[in-house]
Amino acid sequence: MTEDIPFKRKIRSFVRRSGRMTASQKRGLEELWPLFGIEFRDSILDFTTVFGRAAPTNIEIGFGMAENLIAVAKARPDENFIGIEVHDPGIGNALNQIEEFNLSNIRVIKHDAVEVLKRQISPHSLNSVCIFFPDPWHKNKHQKRRLINAEFADLLATKIKKDGHIYLATDWQDYAEQMLNVLNNNSHFNNLSEHNAYCERIEFRSLTKFEKRGQRLGHGVWELIFQRT
Ligand SMILES: C[S@@+](CC[C@H](N)C(=O)[O-])C[C@H]1O[C@@H](n2cnc3c(N)ncnc32)[C@H](O)[C@@H]1O
Repeated sequence: MTEDIPFKRKIRSFVRRSGRMTASQKRGLEELWPLFGIEFRDSILDFTTVFGRAAPTNIEIGFGMAENLIAVAKARPDENFIGIEVHDPGIGNALNQIEEFNLSNIRVIKHDAVEVLKRQISPHSLNSVCIFFPDPWHKNKHQKRRLINAEFADLLATKIKKDGHIYLATDWQDYAEQMLNVLNNNSHFNNLSEHNAYCERIEFRSLTKFEKRGQRLGHGVWELIFQRT
């Protein structure tokens, strides 16, 4: 008789939804992926090769419809941006806009950001990581799915370079408190707010469809900035 091999199911911070795509998003995904997409692989990326130049490189995790990713890449042409998302319509949208605005400083990866960071990003190579409105998983039994926890903070600490930044925003107070607690207790990061708590609105952060919806529902927003020591 063969022994049962224990199989540990990964807890992920997302559920893959098929999501309806517009014809344009579909076209973007099909035609532009070969130009601006990076396949997930178990091998470290060389940013200089990927972008054809050496420049500070930033990551946005869960960029949604890419409003912020595109705006920031336009505003900072001297920096590189990698967007990581698993949601096809958003990826199609990002690719279309990269083409429309002729942005050579963005690449997109369609995979779980935790694995991308672990497998494809070299140690202490990132200028910053942005995560805006990560899925809040508000039911108690789902909170283990939240992306930002102590283990993830340790992973970020291994990938962000000295003096680099983490930028976070959420409209879910309980998750904001978890983020604050996790990062205030991580010795590799300093809280850049005045009172070791939340910051004013992150100056470069764009208003997204998701945030607009929150505003209509009267949600507050909590923002955090931490610096790698
Ligand atoms: C609530 S939405 C917010 C989207 C966007 N940041 C905004 O502000 O509109 C969270 C997004 O994070 C993505 N996401 C969640 N976990 C992820 C992961 N581990 N890797 C990549 N994307 C992830 C989801 O697919 C979803 O699009």
